[in-house]
Amino acid sequence: MSEAAGQHLPVMVAEVLRLMKPRPGQILADLTLGCGMHGSQLLKAITPGGLLLGMDRDPAMLAIAERELSKIPAGRFLLVNDTFGNLRHVLEKAGYQAVDGILADLGISSAQLDSAERGMSYRKDGLLDCRMNTTQGEPVWKDLETLSVDDLAGILFRYGEETQARRIAEAIARERVKEPIRTTGQLTRLLESVVVPGPRRGLHGARRTYLALRAWKNSEPQQLEQMLGCIPGCLKRGGIVAVISYHSLEDAPTKAAMKRWKDEGRCRLLTNSAIKASDAEIASNPRARSARLRAAMRI
Ligand SMILES: C[S@@+](CC[C@H](N)C(=O)[O-])C[C@H]1O[C@@H](n2cnc3c(N)ncnc32)[C@H](O)[C@@H]1O
Repeated sequence: MSEAAGQHLPVMVAEVLRLMKPRPGQILADLTLGCGMHGSQLLKAITPGGLLLGMDRDPAMLAIAERELSKIPAGRFLLVNDTFGNLRHVLEKAGYQAVDGILADLGISSAQLDSAERGMSYRKDGLLDCRMNTTQGEPVWKDLETLSVDDLAGILFRYGEETQARRIAEAIARERVKEPIRTTGQLTRLLESVVVPGPRRGLHGARRTYLALRAWKNSEPQQLEQMLGCIPGCLKRGGIVAVISYHSLEDAPTKAAMKRWKDEGRCRLLTNSAIKASDAEIASNPRARSARLRAAMRI
């Protein structure tokens, strides 16, 4: 990751700590370690005697997080480069049946978003990649060469709730005949010329397309379902899970899963409705505006 990666400001740290109540000696899993900002607060709270299992599918993020976690004196942590859909397997491989707490802070970090070469942002010009792990699979620009208009429109609608999906897909198909779309700059200029502005001022017309391509490329909904499916079985009794979502395609399944756990008598909800960031936090970190925090306790 380039030096221009930028700083990631963690969201609702105080609220996460209040809900998870980390204590010395606990074993916690941070499934989305990112830059290790939440993780280092959790590690501080469980030291001495505790252990933080930190996961991220992006090896570049684990390298950043390792530097952050290493600053905690006597902090014990284990880093795993894997997807959280594999949580059950990762825990077993690490020798744990269940842990005292789990944090999932979904989506991507500012370090990934602000890194032009990751190709995830309409604000940065770079190759249109969108993969969270660049050692696996192909970048999105290659998919844009071959996806049919129907498939592309389906991806934009399903993964980004883009109501102008077909219009955008047709524009991409017309454009690629003239010139292959390789960079975010090319895609953003095209989107700016075809997307009809919506009623919400301040939201860029390219936002949903980028979200959709990233979520599709990284199988984000499937990952989330797999992870939510195994969470109750990965928590000790009294163990707490906290999930931070950034849009409805993350928050709706999280809310539904927690309700299911409650109805099955496996968990008690710690948040009846999602917690939002304070105005003060949003003022200093605009990314916090869309964040929704939900938590549940294994019973
Ligand atoms: C919002 S950031 C987390 C930031 C982190 N809480 C911090 O304080 O720095 C989300 C992270 O989750 C990772 N991630 C996203 N989907 C994942 C998945 N399915 N499995 C593992 N990691 C994932 C991303 O690579 C990214 O680093």
